[in-house]
Amino acid sequence: MPPITCVEDLRQLYKRRVPKMFYDYAESGSYTETTFHRNEDDFKQIKIRQRVGVDISNVDTSATLAGKAASLPVAFAPVGMLGIQNAGGEIKVAKAARDFGVPFILSTMSICSIEQVAEATGAPFWFQLYVVKDRDYIRNLIHRAKAAGCSQLVVTMDLSMLGQRHRDVKNQLSIRPNLKNLINIATKPAWALDMVRTPYKTFGNVIGHAKGVDDLSSLLVWAAEMVDPALDWDDIAWIRKEWGGPIILKGIMDVDDARIAAQMGIETIVVSNHGGRQLDGAASSISMLPEIADAVGDQMELMLDSGVRTGMDIFRARALGASGVLLGRAMVYALGAMGQPGIAKLLDILQKEMKTTMGLAGKTETASIGPEDVWR
Ligand code: FNR
Repeated sequence: MPPITCVEDLRQLYKRRVPKMFYDYAESGSYTETTFHRNEDDFKQIKIRQRVGVDISNVDTSATLAGKAASLPVAFAPVGMLGIQNAGGEIKVAKAARDFGVPFILSTMSICSIEQVAEATGAPFWFQLYVVKDRDYIRNLIHRAKAAGCSQLVVTMDLSMLGQRHRDVKNQLSIRPNLKNLINIATKPAWALDMVRTPYKTFGNVIGHAKGVDDLSSLLVWAAEMVDPALDWDDIAWIRKEWGGPIILKGIMDVDDARIAAQMGIETIVVSNHGGRQLDGAASSISMLPEIADAVGDQMELMLDSGVRTGMDIFRARALGASGVLLGRAMVYALGAMGQPGIAKLLDILQKEMKTTMGLAGKTETASIGPEDVWR
Protein backbone atom coordinates (compact mmCIF):
# COMPACT_ATOMS: atom_id res chain seq x y z
CA MET A 1 0.00 0.00 0.00
CA PRO A 2 1.47 3.43 -0.91
CA PRO A 3 2.10 5.77 2.03
CA ILE A 4 -0.76 7.92 3.29
CA THR A 5 0.31 11.52 2.75
CA CYS A 6 -2.88 13.60 3.01
CA VAL A 7 -6.59 13.59 3.83
CA GLU A 8 -7.43 12.73 0.22
CA ASP A 9 -5.45 9.46 0.56
CA LEU A 10 -7.54 8.62 3.63
CA ARG A 11 -10.73 9.34 1.69
CA GLN A 12 -9.77 6.95 -1.07
CA LEU A 13 -8.93 4.19 1.39
CA TYR A 14 -12.17 4.84 3.27
CA LYS A 15 -14.13 4.45 0.03
CA ARG A 16 -12.59 1.04 -0.55
CA ARG A 17 -13.16 -0.28 2.98
CA VAL A 18 -16.67 0.82 3.98
CA PRO A 19 -20.00 -0.18 2.36
CA LYS A 20 -21.12 2.22 -0.35
CA MET A 21 -24.30 3.40 1.39
CA PHE A 22 -22.30 4.59 4.43
CA TYR A 23 -19.62 6.21 2.26
CA ASP A 24 -22.36 8.01 0.32
CA TYR A 25 -24.05 9.04 3.57
CA ALA A 26 -20.92 10.99 4.55
CA GLU A 27 -19.69 12.09 1.14
CA SER A 28 -22.77 13.97 0.04
CA GLY A 29 -24.53 17.29 0.44
CA SER A 30 -28.16 18.29 0.23
CA TYR A 31 -29.94 18.73 -3.11
CA THR A 32 -27.55 20.02 -5.83
CA GLU A 33 -24.56 19.79 -3.44
CA THR A 34 -23.58 23.36 -4.40
CA THR A 35 -22.81 24.40 -0.83
CA PHE A 36 -21.09 21.09 -0.07
CA HIS A 37 -18.57 21.76 -2.87
CA ARG A 38 -18.44 25.53 -2.31
CA ASN A 39 -17.13 24.98 1.22
CA GLU A 40 -13.95 23.35 -0.09
CA ASP A 41 -13.61 25.57 -3.17
CA ASP A 42 -13.74 28.81 -1.17
CA PHE A 43 -10.97 27.68 1.14
CA LYS A 44 -8.72 27.20 -1.88
CA GLN A 45 -9.40 30.77 -3.04
CA ILE A 46 -7.80 32.26 0.06
CA LYS A 47 -4.13 32.92 -0.62
CA ILE A 48 -1.64 32.71 2.21
CA ARG A 49 1.13 35.32 2.42
CA GLN A 50 4.62 33.86 2.14
CA ARG A 51 7.09 35.55 4.51
CA VAL A 52 10.83 35.03 4.89
CA GLY A 53 13.66 36.11 7.16
CA VAL A 54 11.92 35.00 10.37
CA ASP A 55 13.49 32.48 12.78
CA ILE A 56 11.14 29.50 12.47
CA SER A 57 13.21 26.92 14.35
CA ASN A 58 10.39 26.52 16.88
CA VAL A 59 6.85 26.53 15.52
CA ASP A 60 4.12 25.81 18.08
CA THR A 61 0.69 24.68 16.80
CA SER A 62 -1.05 24.71 20.18
CA ALA A 63 -4.04 26.92 20.90
CA THR A 64 -6.83 27.49 23.40
CA LEU A 65 -10.27 26.19 22.46
CA ALA A 66 -13.26 27.06 24.64
CA GLY A 67 -10.91 27.83 27.50
CA LYS A 68 -8.86 24.61 27.24
CA ALA A 69 -5.40 24.05 25.85
CA ALA A 70 -5.28 22.00 22.63
CA SER A 71 -2.19 20.79 20.78
CA LEU A 72 -3.73 21.88 17.47
CA PRO A 73 -6.65 24.28 16.87
CA VAL A 74 -9.02 21.47 15.90
CA ALA A 75 -11.84 19.53 17.49
CA PHE A 76 -13.70 16.52 16.12
CA ALA A 77 -17.16 17.56 14.89
CA PRO A 78 -20.28 15.76 16.07
CA VAL A 79 -21.10 13.20 13.40
CA GLY A 80 -23.96 10.71 13.67
CA MET A 81 -23.35 6.97 13.36
CA LEU A 82 -19.53 6.98 13.58
CA GLY A 83 -19.92 3.48 14.99
CA ILE A 84 -21.25 2.35 11.63
CA GLN A 85 -18.27 3.68 9.70
CA ASN A 86 -16.00 1.64 11.98
CA ALA A 87 -17.05 -0.59 14.91
CA GLY A 88 -17.04 1.36 18.18
CA GLY A 89 -16.09 4.44 16.12
CA GLU A 90 -17.03 7.09 18.67
CA ILE A 91 -14.82 5.51 21.33
CA LYS A 92 -11.92 5.19 18.89
CA VAL A 93 -12.06 8.86 17.85
CA ALA A 94 -12.50 9.99 21.48
CA LYS A 95 -9.44 8.00 22.56
CA ALA A 96 -7.26 9.30 19.73
CA ALA A 97 -8.42 12.86 20.48
CA ARG A 98 -7.64 12.44 24.18
CA ASP A 99 -4.16 11.06 23.42
CA PHE A 100 -3.34 13.92 21.03
CA GLY A 101 -4.88 16.64 23.18
CA VAL A 102 -7.81 17.94 21.13
CA PRO A 103 -11.55 17.97 21.93
CA PHE A 104 -13.99 15.31 20.74
CA ILE A 105 -17.69 16.13 20.34
CA LEU A 106 -20.12 13.22 20.70
CA SER A 107 -23.27 13.45 18.56
CA THR A 108 -26.75 12.82 19.95
CA MET A 109 -27.09 10.32 17.07
CA SER A 110 -24.01 8.32 18.01
CA ILE A 111 -23.88 4.55 18.23
CA CYS A 112 -21.82 4.45 21.47
CA SER A 113 -23.67 6.18 24.29
CA ILE A 114 -22.50 9.11 26.42
CA GLU A 115 -21.83 6.71 29.30
CA GLN A 116 -19.93 4.20 27.15
CA VAL A 117 -17.63 6.91 25.74
CA ALA A 118 -17.06 8.37 29.22
CA GLU A 119 -16.21 4.98 30.67
CA ALA A 120 -13.89 4.00 27.81
CA THR A 121 -11.95 7.27 27.68
CA GLY A 122 -11.94 8.47 31.29
CA ALA A 123 -11.53 12.00 29.95
CA PRO A 124 -14.02 14.84 29.51
CA PHE A 125 -15.48 15.35 26.05
CA TRP A 126 -18.07 17.72 24.58
CA PHE A 127 -21.65 16.64 23.91
CA GLN A 128 -23.75 17.78 20.94
CA LEU A 129 -27.47 18.18 21.42
CA TYR A 130 -30.14 17.92 18.74
CA VAL A 131 -33.21 19.69 20.01
CA VAL A 132 -36.16 17.36 19.52
CA LYS A 133 -39.82 17.88 20.33
CA ASP A 134 -39.74 15.68 23.43
CA ARG A 135 -38.47 18.09 26.08
CA ASP A 136 -38.34 15.40 28.80
CA TYR A 137 -35.93 13.47 26.62
CA ILE A 138 -33.80 16.60 26.10
CA ARG A 139 -33.73 17.34 29.83
CA ASN A 140 -32.68 13.77 30.56
CA LEU A 141 -29.99 13.88 27.86
CA ILE A 142 -28.56 17.13 29.25
CA HIS A 143 -28.41 15.60 32.71
CA ARG A 144 -26.77 12.44 31.39
CA ALA A 145 -24.08 14.58 29.70
CA LYS A 146 -23.54 16.50 32.93
CA ALA A 147 -23.31 13.31 34.99
CA ALA A 148 -20.74 11.91 32.53
CA GLY A 149 -18.55 14.98 33.04
CA CYS A 150 -18.98 16.55 29.59
CA SER A 151 -17.32 19.95 29.67
CA GLN A 152 -19.20 21.75 26.87
CA LEU A 153 -22.69 21.43 25.45
CA VAL A 154 -22.83 22.02 21.69
CA VAL A 155 -26.36 22.86 20.54
CA THR A 156 -26.98 22.38 16.83
CA MET A 157 -29.33 25.06 15.47
CA ASP A 158 -29.40 24.39 11.73
CA LEU A 159 -31.47 21.21 11.69
CA SER A 160 -35.00 22.38 12.40
CA MET A 161 -35.95 20.82 9.08
CA LEU A 162 -34.06 18.18 7.12
CA GLY A 163 -32.17 18.94 3.91
CA GLN A 164 -32.54 15.95 1.59
CA ARG A 165 -29.50 14.08 0.37
CA HIS A 166 -30.56 12.31 -2.81
CA ARG A 167 -27.96 9.57 -2.45
CA ASP A 168 -29.41 8.43 0.89
CA VAL A 169 -32.87 8.18 -0.68
CA LYS A 170 -31.55 6.22 -3.67
CA ASN A 171 -29.49 3.90 -1.46
CA GLN A 172 -32.46 3.44 0.90
CA LEU A 173 -30.01 4.22 3.70
CA SER A 174 -30.99 2.21 6.72
CA ILE A 175 -29.35 0.33 9.51
CA ARG A 176 -31.25 -2.68 8.12
CA PRO A 177 -29.74 -3.14 4.66
CA ASN A 178 -31.80 -4.16 1.64
CA LEU A 179 -30.59 -6.85 -0.78
CA LYS A 180 -28.53 -4.49 -2.97
CA ASN A 181 -26.78 -3.07 0.08
CA LEU A 182 -26.20 -6.56 1.47
CA ILE A 183 -24.47 -7.59 -1.75
CA ASN A 184 -22.20 -4.54 -1.43
CA ILE A 185 -21.52 -5.33 2.24
CA ALA A 186 -20.38 -8.81 1.17
CA THR A 187 -17.50 -7.12 -0.67
CA LYS A 188 -16.28 -5.52 2.62
CA PRO A 189 -15.71 -8.63 4.79
CA ALA A 190 -13.34 -6.96 7.30
CA TRP A 191 -15.88 -4.22 7.99
CA ALA A 192 -18.71 -6.78 8.28
CA LEU A 193 -16.77 -9.02 10.67
CA ASP A 194 -15.97 -6.08 12.96
CA MET A 195 -19.66 -5.13 12.98
CA VAL A 196 -20.74 -8.64 13.93
CA ARG A 197 -18.23 -8.75 16.79
CA THR A 198 -18.73 -5.28 18.28
CA PRO A 199 -20.98 -4.82 21.32
CA TYR A 200 -21.87 -1.31 20.05
CA LYS A 201 -24.77 -1.82 17.67
CA THR A 202 -27.61 0.58 18.45
CA PHE A 203 -28.11 4.32 19.01
CA GLY A 204 -26.94 4.40 22.62
CA ASN A 205 -28.27 7.88 23.43
CA VAL A 206 -31.75 7.16 22.17
CA ILE A 207 -32.83 3.53 22.46
CA GLY A 208 -34.24 2.86 25.91
CA HIS A 209 -34.21 6.62 26.71
CA ALA A 210 -36.67 8.29 24.33
CA LYS A 211 -40.33 7.54 24.96
CA GLY A 212 -41.49 4.47 23.05
CA VAL A 213 -38.09 3.82 21.42
CA ASP A 214 -37.02 0.32 22.38
CA ASP A 215 -35.62 -1.09 19.16
CA LEU A 216 -34.34 -0.06 15.77
CA SER A 217 -37.66 0.01 13.99
CA SER A 218 -39.27 2.27 16.60
CA LEU A 219 -36.13 4.46 16.47
CA LEU A 220 -36.58 5.04 12.74
CA VAL A 221 -40.16 6.22 13.29
CA TRP A 222 -39.03 8.46 16.17
CA ALA A 223 -36.11 9.92 14.19
CA ALA A 224 -38.38 10.89 11.30
CA GLU A 225 -40.69 12.74 13.67
CA MET A 226 -38.11 14.09 16.10
CA VAL A 227 -36.93 17.21 14.27
CA ASP A 228 -38.39 20.25 15.99
CA PRO A 229 -39.27 23.04 13.54
CA ALA A 230 -40.32 25.25 16.47
CA LEU A 231 -36.78 25.59 17.87
CA ASP A 232 -36.17 29.27 18.70
CA TRP A 233 -34.01 31.47 20.93
CA ASP A 234 -36.28 30.90 23.94
CA ASP A 235 -35.45 27.20 23.72
CA ILE A 236 -31.76 28.09 23.75
CA ALA A 237 -32.27 30.11 26.93
CA TRP A 238 -34.11 27.13 28.49
CA ILE A 239 -31.38 24.67 27.46
CA ARG A 240 -28.74 26.96 28.88
CA LYS A 241 -30.52 27.04 32.23
CA GLU A 242 -30.89 23.25 32.32
CA TRP A 243 -27.23 22.79 31.45
CA GLY A 244 -25.90 25.49 33.78
CA GLY A 245 -22.48 25.66 32.08
CA PRO A 246 -20.89 27.11 28.96
CA ILE A 247 -22.63 26.35 25.68
CA ILE A 248 -21.58 26.41 22.06
CA LEU A 249 -24.13 27.19 19.35
CA LYS A 250 -23.42 25.36 16.10
CA GLY A 251 -24.80 26.34 12.73
CA ILE A 252 -24.62 30.15 12.85
CA MET A 253 -24.04 31.57 9.36
CA ASP A 254 -25.47 35.06 9.56
CA VAL A 255 -24.19 38.17 11.25
CA ASP A 256 -27.63 39.04 12.66
CA ASP A 257 -27.94 35.60 14.29
CA ALA A 258 -24.40 35.92 15.64
CA ARG A 259 -25.41 39.26 17.21
CA ILE A 260 -28.44 37.67 18.91
CA ALA A 261 -26.19 34.95 20.34
CA ALA A 262 -23.74 37.60 21.55
CA GLN A 263 -26.53 39.60 23.20
CA MET A 264 -27.62 36.45 25.04
CA GLY A 265 -24.10 36.10 26.38
CA ILE A 266 -23.37 32.84 24.55
CA GLU A 267 -19.71 31.93 25.03
CA THR A 268 -18.91 30.32 21.66
CA ILE A 269 -20.49 29.83 18.24
CA VAL A 270 -19.52 27.55 15.38
CA VAL A 271 -19.84 29.23 11.99
CA SER A 272 -21.13 26.23 10.08
CA ASN A 273 -23.51 25.19 7.31
CA HIS A 274 -23.45 21.56 8.48
CA GLY A 275 -20.93 20.67 5.79
CA GLY A 276 -23.40 21.59 3.03
CA ARG A 277 -25.92 19.01 4.25
CA GLN A 278 -28.71 21.42 5.13
CA LEU A 279 -29.35 24.73 3.27
CA ASP A 280 -28.16 24.09 -0.27
CA GLY A 281 -27.28 27.40 -1.91
CA ALA A 282 -25.95 28.88 1.32
CA ALA A 283 -22.58 30.62 1.31
CA SER A 284 -19.52 28.70 2.40
CA SER A 285 -18.75 28.98 6.11
CA ILE A 286 -15.28 30.40 5.49
CA SER A 287 -16.68 33.22 3.33
CA MET A 288 -18.99 34.32 6.18
CA LEU A 289 -16.35 34.21 8.89
CA PRO A 290 -14.71 37.66 8.40
CA GLU A 291 -18.02 39.55 8.61
CA ILE A 292 -19.12 37.62 11.70
CA ALA A 293 -15.68 38.10 13.28
CA ASP A 294 -15.90 41.88 12.67
CA ALA A 295 -19.35 42.05 14.28
CA VAL A 296 -18.98 39.82 17.35
CA GLY A 297 -15.40 38.54 17.47
CA ASP A 298 -14.61 40.69 20.50
CA GLN A 299 -17.63 39.40 22.43
CA MET A 300 -17.46 35.65 21.92
CA GLU A 301 -15.25 32.87 20.68
CA LEU A 302 -15.74 31.80 17.07
CA MET A 303 -15.05 28.35 15.74
CA LEU A 304 -15.69 27.20 12.18
CA ASP A 305 -16.44 24.05 10.26
CA SER A 306 -17.41 22.91 6.76
CA GLY A 307 -14.79 22.17 4.14
CA VAL A 308 -11.64 21.88 6.29
CA ARG A 309 -9.37 19.30 4.67
CA THR A 310 -5.79 20.53 5.27
CA GLY A 311 -3.51 22.23 7.74
CA MET A 312 -3.51 25.16 5.31
CA ASP A 313 -7.29 25.43 5.82
CA ILE A 314 -6.80 25.49 9.59
CA PHE A 315 -4.34 28.36 9.12
CA ARG A 316 -6.81 30.22 6.85
CA ALA A 317 -9.66 29.85 9.36
CA ARG A 318 -7.44 31.03 12.18
CA ALA A 319 -6.31 34.04 10.09
CA LEU A 320 -9.92 35.07 9.44
CA GLY A 321 -11.00 34.99 13.06
CA ALA A 322 -11.67 31.41 14.23
CA SER A 323 -10.02 30.07 17.37
CA GLY A 324 -10.14 26.65 15.74
CA VAL A 325 -12.01 24.35 13.38
CA LEU A 326 -14.17 21.25 13.65
CA LEU A 327 -13.32 18.30 11.44
CA GLY A 328 -16.32 16.43 10.05
CA ARG A 329 -15.67 14.39 6.92
CA ALA A 330 -11.88 14.39 7.36
CA MET A 331 -12.49 12.48 10.60
CA VAL A 332 -14.95 10.08 8.94
CA TYR A 333 -12.45 9.29 6.15
CA ALA A 334 -9.67 8.57 8.66
CA LEU A 335 -11.87 6.45 10.90
CA GLY A 336 -13.39 4.46 8.05
CA ALA A 337 -9.98 3.93 6.47
CA MET A 338 -7.99 2.79 9.48
CA GLY A 339 -9.93 3.03 12.77
CA GLN A 340 -8.18 4.64 15.74
CA PRO A 341 -4.69 4.64 14.12
CA GLY A 342 -6.34 6.45 11.17
CA ILE A 343 -7.42 9.27 13.48
CA ALA A 344 -3.90 9.49 14.93
CA LYS A 345 -2.56 9.58 11.36
CA LEU A 346 -4.99 12.35 10.42
CA LEU A 347 -3.92 14.49 13.36
CA ASP A 348 -0.28 13.93 12.53
CA ILE A 349 -0.84 14.94 8.87
CA LEU A 350 -2.77 18.07 9.81
CA GLN A 351 -0.28 19.11 12.47
CA LYS A 352 2.65 18.78 10.05
CA GLU A 353 0.78 20.73 7.37
CA MET A 354 -0.15 23.43 9.87
CA LYS A 355 3.41 23.65 11.18
CA THR A 356 4.91 23.99 7.70
CA THR A 357 2.29 26.56 6.70
CA MET A 358 2.91 28.60 9.82
CA GLY A 359 6.67 28.48 9.33
CA LEU A 360 6.60 29.45 5.66
CA ALA A 361 4.15 32.24 6.47
CA GLY A 362 6.60 33.49 9.10
CA LYS A 363 4.52 32.59 12.16
CA THR A 364 5.76 30.63 15.15
CA GLU A 365 2.63 30.83 17.37
CA THR A 366 -1.05 30.38 16.53
CA ALA A 367 -1.94 33.46 18.60
CA SER A 368 -0.07 35.70 16.17
CA ILE A 369 -1.90 34.45 13.05
CA GLY A 370 -4.29 37.17 11.84
CA PRO A 371 -6.06 38.72 8.84
CA GLU A 372 -2.77 40.19 7.60
CA ASP A 373 -1.55 36.65 6.82
CA VAL A 374 -3.98 36.02 3.95
CA TRP A 375 -5.15 37.71 0.73
CA ARG A 376 -8.86 37.50 0.06
C1 FNR B 1 -22.66 15.57 10.23
N1 FNR B 1 -22.87 16.72 10.99
C2 FNR B 1 -23.55 16.63 12.18
N2 FNR B 1 -23.71 17.75 12.95
C3 FNR B 1 -24.32 17.67 14.16
O1 FNR B 1 -24.42 18.69 14.84
N3 FNR B 1 -24.79 16.46 14.62
C4 FNR B 1 -24.69 15.32 13.88
O2 FNR B 1 -25.10 14.24 14.32
C5 FNR B 1 -24.09 15.40 12.61
N4 FNR B 1 -23.99 14.30 11.80
C6 FNR B 1 -23.25 14.34 10.64
C7 FNR B 1 -23.05 13.20 9.89
C8 FNR B 1 -22.21 13.24 8.77
C9 FNR B 1 -21.96 11.97 8.00
C10 FNR B 1 -21.58 14.44 8.40
C11 FNR B 1 -20.64 14.49 7.22
C12 FNR B 1 -21.81 15.59 9.12
C13 FNR B 1 -22.23 17.99 10.60
C14 FNR B 1 -20.83 18.08 11.19
O3 FNR B 1 -20.85 18.25 12.58
C15 FNR B 1 -20.05 19.28 10.61
O4 FNR B 1 -20.79 20.44 10.75
C16 FNR B 1 -19.69 19.08 9.14
O5 FNR B 1 -19.34 17.74 8.89
C17 FNR B 1 -18.54 19.99 8.76
O6 FNR B 1 -18.21 19.90 7.42
P1 FNR B 1 -17.05 18.96 6.84
O7 FNR B 1 -15.86 19.06 7.75
O8 FNR B 1 -17.61 17.57 6.81
O9 FNR B 1 -16.84 19.52 5.47
